[in-house]
Amino acid sequence: MKPVLLCLLGSFMGLIPAWGHSARPPLAMTGARGGLTCNICHSGTNLNAGGGSLKVEIIGAGKYTPGAKHTLRVTLADPTAERWGFQLTAQLSGAAIQAGTLNLVNPSETVKEEESGLEYVAHRADGTRPGQRNQVTWDVDWIAPPQGAGNVAFFVAGNAANRNGNEFGDKIYTASAEYAADSGDTQTRSYALPQIAFGGNANTDGKWTTTLYFTSTATSATAFTVDFFANNGSPMPVPFGGGTATSIPVNLTAGSTTAIELSSSGALTQGWAAVNLPSTVKGFGIFRQDVTGRSPSEAVIPLAEDSKQNYVMVWDDTEFTTVMAIANPGGTPVTVNLTVRLANGNQIGTGAVNLGPKEKTAFVLRTQLNLPAMQGASGALDISVSSGKLSVLGLRFGPTAVTSMPPAER
Ligand code: HEC
Repeated sequence: MKPVLLCLLGSFMGLIPAWGHSARPPLAMTGARGGLTCNICHSGTNLNAGGGSLKVEIIGAGKYTPGAKHTLRVTLADPTAERWGFQLTAQLSGAAIQAGTLNLVNPSETVKEEESGLEYVAHRADGTRPGQRNQVTWDVDWIAPPQGAGNVAFFVAGNAANRNGNEFGDKIYTASAEYAADSGDTQTRSYALPQIAFGGNANTDGKWTTTLYFTSTATSATAFTVDFFANNGSPMPVPFGGGTATSIPVNLTAGSTTAIELSSSGALTQGWAAVNLPSTVKGFGIFRQDVTGRSPSEAVIPLAEDSKQNYVMVWDDTEFTTVMAIANPGGTPVTVNLTVRLANGNQIGTGAVNLGPKEKTAFVLRTQLNLPAMQGASGALDISVSSGKLSVLGLRFGPTAVTSMPPAER
């Protein structure tokens, strides 16, 4: 009795001309969290008792990827229906708060409206598919909320109608689906710092210190490890916690920053570092060279995504010496191809460097390529591998200081 009564009231109060017809149902009728659904007007069977089914899903994904575009599919099936309608909302699972953004795939069949900060997508008259039997689907695009939103819930109501042009004899179904965000793993990227140096003698080659900085923009705690490798590819012990470790665990609470300083009074040790970072953690390194009798010199080691294969880097040997640090972060041997161009663009030489898995090398560029013509000149260097991974950094040593020459992806 009650639903029919409500519906008639609605008609008499003029609600139906404004909202309640097959062109678009009134808002907030998805049945979310025990709320109202289409059966306040439509009657035929009890809710979800018409022998059919309704579901909502993210097409092709068991979890949502924060910030990514997904397509949602509403599937309404019923053995007797001949006309169809639906309404969909995307909310945070814990509260009636909009989750992400709904966008229409097919604006002639579906309509998007908002009420109380919540978006609803529903059928339009052209989307009711009169005459279609057994099952219908509607697709709706959804831009997922950013990382940290937690689980989201889709609530949907469907009307498997009898095509009689009124609200009687129809079957209303409701359904919901909850999705978790991808685990952090699928969003982590592997980075390499191709030059790590610590220890050494300030009176000879200099005393080196490397500091790694990481900062978190996440809203929850993040954990990762930094792995260190010697030039020959084997795990490299670095000073840590009063002893040494080849791998340093980093735990960042929400919004926090850490600095890992690698310093030693022992012999000069050189290698490189690999780290898998979630997209919410940013980082870089700085190394410092102390030489007796002159000011210390520092240079930035940018974190380079190790999946890139082609770089270009400026070199300047006018009054400097360019040193390259190149690591192979991958598990297969690589051949690194180098092509040197002068400032006027003319190519003056090429070379290749072979690196086994996890190996790293550092060399004076003009010596390695046997290109004395580089001395007193400047230009650009192309660095590439045709397969496998590559991580590269240039260092420009001058009479008073050293600085990094950042390679750019090309
Ligand atoms: C306030 C009352 C009211 C509510 C709530 C309501 N409807 Fe309706 N609906 C009507 C009326 C009245 C008609 C018949 C007039 C028309 O088609 O415009 C109708 C017609 C329809 C039809 C065509 C039925 C047929 O047999 O031809 C569909 C499909 C439909 N509604 C879907 C929905 C869906 C889906 C919802 C819930 C999300 C919903 N309606 C909620 C009042 C309502």
